[in-house]
Amino acid sequence: MYKTKIAGIGHYVPEKVVTNNDLAKVMDTSDEWVQERTGIKERRYGEKHKETTASMGAKAAAIAIERAGIQKEDIDFIIFGTLSADYYFPGCGVLLQRELGITNTEIGALDIRNQCSGFIYGLSIADQFIKTGMYKNILLVGSEMHSMGLEFSTQGRNVTVIFGDGAGAVVLQPTEKDGQGVLTTKLHSDGTYAEKLAMINPGSHGGYHFDKLGIDVDFGYPDEEYGEIFTTQHMLDNNQLYPNMEGQFVFKLAVQKFPEVINEALDEVGLSATDIDMLVPHQANLRISQFVQKRMGLSDDKVYNNIQKYGNTTAASIPIALCEAWEAGKVKEGDLVCLAAFGSGFTWGSALIRW
Ligand code: COA
Repeated sequence: MYKTKIAGIGHYVPEKVVTNNDLAKVMDTSDEWVQERTGIKERRYGEKHKETTASMGAKAAAIAIERAGIQKEDIDFIIFGTLSADYYFPGCGVLLQRELGITNTEIGALDIRNQCSGFIYGLSIADQFIKTGMYKNILLVGSEMHSMGLEFSTQGRNVTVIFGDGAGAVVLQPTEKDGQGVLTTKLHSDGTYAEKLAMINPGSHGGYHFDKLGIDVDFGYPDEEYGEIFTTQHMLDNNQLYPNMEGQFVFKLAVQKFPEVINEALDEVGLSATDIDMLVPHQANLRISQFVQKRMGLSDDKVYNNIQKYGNTTAASIPIALCEAWEAGKVKEGDLVCLAAFGSGFTWGSALIRW
């Protein structure tokens, strides 16, 4: 069986820098609060009507393709992770294919909706296809245009200050080189707390049509909380068109699950935290990353964080950070790279890669 290697990596962030002070002009927050609680100093926002989740993904992908030394026509499968898709449907995978000018219809395009764990889920899927020899050049992209869907008011401040736009991409290829490649991926989920970090509308839980037909169906959701009637006005009136998050609840689980899932991967391949050369955690909150670093006993030079510059870019955060670390020469051939994520769902996961 083959192993999967990252043959090329790229990232793209929009030019527009939005500082905490910029946000403080439209909501009751402050640079001090945001930096102290999250570590974030600024984030990027895509250009209105010009940039999209798919177009940013395509820019990152073009770099990854070039660095892999292949042509876009060589791509035989696309995996696209995002929570801020351009359309409700179709997904961003086909939009990226079009944006890149890939006209080959022999290939597949898969969209995954695993939010902050999207990149690791995508990597794990790609790994299975490559190990078995089914595909040779998988393009895996994580991209987010959060700025188009955030609530720019004090009501939405706990979520809005955290998120930013950007994209990261990798080209994954088979390798037979001894020891090189993805050593393992670990995926987890627990739907018990799905609404703790969620945007629940537009969604299919309203029961509107069932009501009209006189059929009584109980979806198990409290109507007053999640909306009985699926109309835009109802959603607007009930503040349901924006993401909601119980920050402290998410925080407490995240700091527990990150170390757990990293150790699970290390145990499986018979390695320990001291073997890690670079940990690239999903950039959720600098305090979460610092907690994980401490728990894993890693020195500062073995953890890469860039949330200070970009905020949380969800499915894009790991490939952007990994790309920056690689460009800075902090990830070298033979290094043991660990990726880990936790987010909405809840879903979480980890990956160990011998670079
Ligand atoms: N600016 C100023 N005050 C804010 C604020 C903001 N942007 N957001 C929330 N507050 C206020 C709250 O209203 C609350 O006020 P109150 O005490 O008067 O009620 C106070 O700050 C404390 O809120 P709390 O939510 O307890 O703060 P926190 O220390 O937990 O920090 C988060 C909030 C969101 C930064 C933190 O919980 C977090 O990062 N959680 C994890 C989020 C995450 O990782 N999400 C993505 C998962 S991938």
